Amino acid sequence: DEQLASLKVNQGRLMEDIHHTCQWGTGQKWGDKPTETGMSRLALSDTDKQARDWFVETTQALGCTTTIDAMGNIFAVRPGLRTDKPPTFAGSHLDTQPTGGRYDGILGVTAGIEMLKVMADNWVETEYPVGVVNWTNEEGARFPMSMVASGVWAGSIPLETAHNTREVHPGTATMASELSRIGYLGQTPASYEVIPMGAHFELHIEQGPLLEMANKKIGVVKGVQAYKWFTINVKGRDTHTGTTDLKSRADALLVASKMILHSHRLATANSALASTGILNLKPGSTNTVPGEVSFSLDIRAPKDSTVEAMAELIKKDFSTIAAGEDISDSNLGCTLGLPCEVTITEDFDSPATTFHQDCVDAVHQAAHSTIGPDAHDKIMEMTSGAGHDSVYTSKRCPTSMIFVPCREGVSHNPREYCKEEDCALGAQVLLQSVLRFDRM
Ligand code: GLV
Ligand code: MN
Ligand code: MN
Ligand code: MN
Repeated sequence: DEQLASLKVNQGRLMEDIHHTCQWGTGQKWGDKPTETGMSRLALSDTDKQARDWFVETTQALGCTTTIDAMGNIFAVRPGLRTDKPPTFAGSHLDTQPTGGRYDGILGVTAGIEMLKVMADNWVETEYPVGVVNWTNEEGARFPMSMVASGVWAGSIPLETAHNTREVHPGTATMASELSRIGYLGQTPASYEVIPMGAHFELHIEQGPLLEMANKKIGVVKGVQAYKWFTINVKGRDTHTGTTDLKSRADALLVASKMILHSHRLATANSALASTGILNLKPGSTNTVPGEVSFSLDIRAPKDSTVEAMAELIKKDFSTIAAGEDISDSNLGCTLGLPCEVTITEDFDSPATTFHQDCVDAVHQAAHSTIGPDAHDKIMEMTSGAGHDSVYTSKRCPTSMIFVPCREGVSHNPREYCKEEDCALGAQVLLQSVLRFDRM
């Protein structure tokens, strides 16, 4: 045990792997300019394929057997001494946001590979097999359902639904067509019954400011807040901007704007979050009143009941706003126009998650032994604001996460940055958590 506790990740080698994988997808944005440090490696793009190929080659060279399932999830497994329990996995994702950074997801996968390298260098024999997994389309940026592939693996999302999910831009490809195009439509069913896990540990940047503000180094993640995604479609009428007086308009954008603002009022009143990240309007002409608008709405809160209540309020109030009535000052002193039609579709639902105490304990202990005497001051227990594949793995196996601070808490941004020493500390806690769980 002491010998295992003395195993150390190699910070330089971990950082080399991170930056090596970032050659695929740097600056490739939705048709935009390159960025210095940012990443745009959309799920199942050519650059995602390149990063996947590297993952498969690297893990196989480290003595792993790799399995690709029907969602393109890649499971690399290193044998243990015994076979009567499924592997303990470390995992995360290699896909990024269209304007993402180098750490979200990538850190967790490369730290898993670093764990395998440390084990290989030191001839470590674990009791049970140990694995590293790369989950497909965690971001939900290209195919608008986050954590969709771990969701299928967990039996929470039907394979058909996932396969038929269409990309946001330009909307021609589906997940199935892109999986097949890049050669990652695996033969193995995407199911926890076929590819079981003994446990799942995920190292991730916090993506928020709490650790940095509190001057902490490791977040022991106890769970993930609840969220729901909606698409709202508002139909009004295209009319001439110069000839149509304000009362005679059915301005879909004005109505959508009131709805978005109102969602923030509701969020403020309910200690929840509301965000719109996609907004489309038609026809897109300076001198035509927009007749149709669709927008995304992402609602989050620690409790399921809050998210449910928000969803109900939104359905009711958006209908009222579309009908042309003024509620809680939603009209903001504008002239009320003609009614619009609204349809609200719930696209995605992720209830609040509580992680398994054994895994939380393993992370806690690993963090304590790694940091040493002042560990108390450097560790914080927390709930994740972001969704992660660990949400779905936790439905089927003991799961927990390790957070490390990122600069100013900024993520989903090319400026996302995590100090090298913090990446390495997180990787070290990941390694020690997996080793601890193996012996639990
Ligand atoms: C998933 O990454 C989410 O939190 O949106
Ligand atoms: Mn992520
Ligand atoms: Mn992300
Ligand atoms: Mn995420």
